[in-house]
Amino acid sequence: MNKPLFITFEGPEGAGKTTIIQQLNKELKNHSIPFVSTREPGGIDIAEQIRSVILNPKNTEMDGRTEALLYAAARRQHLVERVLPALEEGKVVLCDRFIDSSLAYQGFARGLGIEEVFSINQFATEDRMPDMTFYFDLSPKVGLERIEKNNLREKNRLDLEKLDFHQKVQQGYRQVLDRFPERIVVINAEQPIDMVYNDVLQVLKERLFKD
Ligand code: TMP
Repeated sequence: MNKPLFITFEGPEGAGKTTIIQQLNKELKNHSIPFVSTREPGGIDIAEQIRSVILNPKNTEMDGRTEALLYAAARRQHLVERVLPALEEGKVVLCDRFIDSSLAYQGFARGLGIEEVFSINQFATEDRMPDMTFYFDLSPKVGLERIEKNNLREKNRLDLEKLDFHQKVQQGYRQVLDRFPERIVVINAEQPIDMVYNDVLQVLKERLFKD
């Protein structure tokens, strides 16, 4: 297998993705591996503007298809402006969420259909999929409890959804895992954070850091 350059991180809220990515940033620096660390929706100005529309808790009227299209639009702009140029320069790209989030949240949890959402995203990305994806697996209940304890985190529109929505997100991710088993590495995210980090690092050492 070629070294994965475009690496994405997926999972429910409260899975610890952000913390792990911050730690990985330090690790890549220590290995002098050139990289870009970014997130979706957002990462660049236009996509951050779209993010604030999507996640604004005031936008309670937002229709599910509008939401899916806005995520796809933010994804498109971020891909062409940030991800593809970095990959062309040979940099590793670490991206907090990508297409699998849309499949699980909009496709399955919102009930729009995984196939339908995949198809608008294929248009948006011109079929550019990640080389490798870490899926942070934890129960929606544990995830929600962690978010509620985290006072520093501002609650966004999707955080206001109830437990049953987050359970559907998890079911959606299960379907995504079945569809892309060769790309997605499942990490047990209910462990203490340093063990989660070790698991991720182990995989990266095998696939990215070896000569
Ligand atoms: P974040 O909390 O990881 O920054 O993500 C923002 C929210 O957006 C989170 O609730 C997941 C959701 N989301 C989708 O519903 N679809 C998507 O395509 C993406 C990228 C995020």
